[in-house]
Order: sequence, then C-alpha cells, then structure tokens
Amino acid sequence: MEAKNLKKYFKTPKGMLHAVDGVNFKLRKGTTLGLVGESGCGKSTTGRVLLRLLEATDGEVIYEGKNILHLNSNEMRALRKEMQIIFQDPYASLNPRMTVSQIIEEPIKLNKLIKNKEERFIKVLELMELVGLSERLINTYPHELDGGRRQRIGIARALSLNTKFIVCDEPVSALDVSIQAQILNLMKELQKKLDLTYIFITHDLSVVNHFSDEIAVMYLGKIIEKAPSEELFSHPIHPYTNALLSAIPKLTIKQDNEQIILKGEIVSPINPKPICRFANRCIYAKKICKEKEPALEKVCENHYVACHLFKE
Ligand SMILES: Nc1ncnc2c1ncn2[C@@H]1O[C@H](COP(=O)(O)OP(=O)(O)O)[C@@H](O)[C@H]1O
Ligand code: SF4
Ligand SMILES: [Mg+2]
Repeated sequence: MEAKNLKKYFKTPKGMLHAVDGVNFKLRKGTTLGLVGESGCGKSTTGRVLLRLLEATDGEVIYEGKNILHLNSNEMRALRKEMQIIFQDPYASLNPRMTVSQIIEEPIKLNKLIKNKEERFIKVLELMELVGLSERLINTYPHELDGGRRQRIGIARALSLNTKFIVCDEPVSALDVSIQAQILNLMKELQKKLDLTYIFITHDLSVVNHFSDEIAVMYLGKIIEKAPSEELFSHPIHPYTNALLSAIPKLTIKQDNEQIILKGEIVSPINPKPICRFANRCIYAKKICKEKEPALEKVCENHYVACHLFKE
C-alpha cells in the first residue's frame, strides 16, 4: 500500500479543517506501519480515508498497484473483503444483542462467502480458535466478556473474510496493560500466520515499539518523522518525537533524560499557516520556522524528518 499526498479536509463553520494534510508513505505486504501522535492529529481520519470509509479530498491510495480512490462501488465492494478495521472500543463496535457466533458470522453471511449453515458454523469455530476464544463462549453476549475477549471477537470478525490489510485504530488503548500484551502478541502471531499488513494507530509510542516495522509520527495532519522502529527509538530527530519518547518511563536509552513537557497549545487545524505547525511549542524554534513550512526530507536510508533544525 502506498499513500501519495493524501489529504482530507473537513468544511467547518470557521473554515477548512486540515485533518490529513499531504501524507506519504509506503507499506510492504506483511509488515506494520505504526501511526503515532496526540489525539486529534489525524490518525483515525487517515485510516478511514485509506479504507474509503471517508472520501479523500486529494491524493492517491495505491493498493496492489491500483489507485483505489478511483474504483467504483462494485470494484470497491470486492476490495472491502480484503481491507478491514479494528476499533479501540470493541464494546461500542459489537452489536450487544448478538452472540459471539452471530457477530463473527455476520460478514460471512452478508458477503455470501459460505452459504451452508453448518460450514459457516465450522468457520466460526475455526476463527474463534485462531484468536484464542474458547468454544464454550460461542453463545455468550459481548457484555458477558472482558475487554480482551471482546477485542478477540473484533479481530475474529475482521479476519472472517479474505482479509489482507487491517487498519488497527488504537486496538489496545482501552485495555489493561497485561491484556494489551496478550492482544498485541496475538496480532503479531496472526500477522505471521496470515501474511497480514497492518496500519497500527496509537497515541502511545511505547505500544508500537516492538510491534511496528516502521513508525510515522503525525502532528496536525502531517507526518513529521518517519523511520524504521529501531532507528526512530535510537535516533529520534524531530523535537516532537523526542518529547513523545521522553514521556515513556522505562525506555533505557532515554532513562537519564528528563521528560520534555510540551508547553503551549496545539495550533488550530483550521486554515493552518504555511509554517512549522509545531513552532509555538518548540524550544528550538527560530525565525525560519515561523516563515516556512519544513518539508519531509531524507536524513539517511529510510529515515525522514520535517524540521528546519536537522540540516544544521
Ligand atoms: N467528521 C468530521 N468533521 C469535522 N472535523 C472532523 C471530523 N472527523 C475528524 N475531525 C477533525 O479532524 C482532526 C483529526 O481527527 P482524528 O483523525 O479523529 O484524530 P486522531 O485519530 O489522531 O485523534 C481533528 O481536529 C478532528 O476534530
Ligand atoms: S522546524 Fe523549527 S519549530 Fe519546527 S520542529 Fe523544527 S526547530 Fe522546531
Ligand atoms: Mg483516533
């Protein structure tokens, strides 16, 4: 998958809100891109535009060689079986009046993938086993289960079709830390087993540390730094990435460093000025930062940053 200059603007009474403002990335099959940043920076909107749950304002989404933004609804329907989303709060996204088996079975039924009822039942059992849900839960309802099990249902449902690509929108953010690890391990195992490609959205950098192959840090609709996971954690460049990393308590490389507390408000995403969007919170900001928008530029192999500072 590739996003090229992807944009999503929302019309608001105060002007155009630049939720996603020229995002570029490439994602190889079977790998994970972590999309990280504070609430409101445009992560979910990016995920939804990639799946065409929202229509892009501009740009391209290349999936297996085709710009899917130009596909008609029939062509898109076929693709939807491959492209799925997992949400933060499985409880809100699962129908409370349906049993586990009905929830997992629903996409198979709607897409007429398996018409025979018994075969469908067997498929549901297979999916439950795949995601570590005990067979005895098959007739329970979401409210009878804990958050971890509910998220396993969400994952099973996302895998019920011929899934290849999944946008995981904060899939563990609502879970206890101990359960977070279990779900992340499960997702990693499934990725290997089924050769899945993930966009993993989170506001918490520590969650994607060992999970993502690459990480893109977003700030107000833009990717401001992008690098392979290890590189980003060991050699962060952008002041904002450094601030995010310093907030992770147990990170060994940063252990001696103090947490960088960001001061100042995030500027409005409505009609943003063509300057560095982080300038009002950046301790290194200088004249040029408030005159010119920094472009995302290559620092070394696979490492990109949008900051006037790195050139010095
Ligand atoms: N339907 C919408 N209409 C107007 N603004 C929206 C809409 N959806 C999201 N936004 C705005 O777009 C920006 C990005 O939101 P979102 O993608 O949800 O961020 P994140 O997932 O990173 O928290 C926010 O400023 C949000 O208020
Ligand atoms: S461009 Fe300037 S203001 Fe923006 S992050 Fe870099 S140093 Fe800070
Ligand atoms: Mg979100």
